[in-house]
Amino acid sequence: MNERPTLKGKPKMIGVLTSGGDAPGMNAAIRAVVRTAINRNIRVLGVNNGYQGLIDGDVIEMDLRKVSNILHRGGTILKTARCKSFYNLEGQKKGRNMCLEMGIEGLVVIGGDGSFRGAKALTALGIPTVGIPGTIDNDISCTDYTIGFHTALNTVIDAIDRLRDTSESHNRCSVVEVMGHGKGDLALFASVAGGGTACWINEIGFNVERDIIYKMKTTLRTGKHNFIIVVSEGITDVHALAKEIQEKTGVESRATVLGHIQRGGQPCAFDRILASRMGFHAVELLEQGIGNRVIVIQNDQITDMDINEALEMPGKVNYKMLEINNAINI
Ligand code: F6P
Repeated sequence: MNERPTLKGKPKMIGVLTSGGDAPGMNAAIRAVVRTAINRNIRVLGVNNGYQGLIDGDVIEMDLRKVSNILHRGGTILKTARCKSFYNLEGQKKGRNMCLEMGIEGLVVIGGDGSFRGAKALTALGIPTVGIPGTIDNDISCTDYTIGFHTALNTVIDAIDRLRDTSESHNRCSVVEVMGHGKGDLALFASVAGGGTACWINEIGFNVERDIIYKMKTTLRTGKHNFIIVVSEGITDVHALAKEIQEKTGVESRATVLGHIQRGGQPCAFDRILASRMGFHAVELLEQGIGNRVIVIQNDQITDMDINEALEMPGKVNYKMLEINNAINI
């Protein structure tokens, strides 16, 4: 399973697209792919609007200057989409045929696990495709970090710091809903860095009475009168939770749903560097005709692994981080 399938020789032209929810650092990854490829005499087509653009043949030839001044920009210059037509074989074949028609001999897909399923299908249809993990959710188990996670984390922490100022001034509790698409990393890391008295994520057993109400009452007795409670999206109605907290603890409470501001903004240094390293590595694979791989960072080393294996890896919960949160944020 772990050998690298060499499907073709060095390509003359490759494509690059972004797919799924955008993430800060996607532009840095596009830039790295384009510049590494051009450096190695491989032409690059930028595919607009994710897999839909591949089906439609919506492409633009990239050159060195088309990726100038995007390293620091959030979003993705190629636009992105979640393409339902690419979930089935018919759509995937259309994409493959369009690649053949346009001369795309290898493809880099920057996105989340849904995007990697498309990459796997395209490789099986003869177009070596390599995935780069780009999502703020950090929900791709094979890699320690995805592109965009650290930037989103900084955005969440900035919001929590602001909420802390006003919560402290009013002796209030602030319930903050954070994105994550079922994965608690963004909430958990933000809680540790932002001082969340409680952090409620999908992956763990959680009890509002024990983990919030009792903890807040205990903490109130130590002289603390303002609280941050971090909740991962999709678990509960945070407005109802704030009301319950207020009723049961007597601490005035407000809820804030951070929403899509978490997806925007300038990528932080970590994400720019991660994206540059991953984009470079992706082209090195395609240059050798290797597809069906996902680029990962493990213990600060950039490497790659089989997409099938990557997709099958079970999700991990950072219990140590949870323990640290519960031990320090009291
Ligand atoms: O996957 C990234 C993400 O931002 C998730 O955190 C969130 O659940 C989802 O996308 C939101 O999707 P949409 O952009 O369709 O509202």
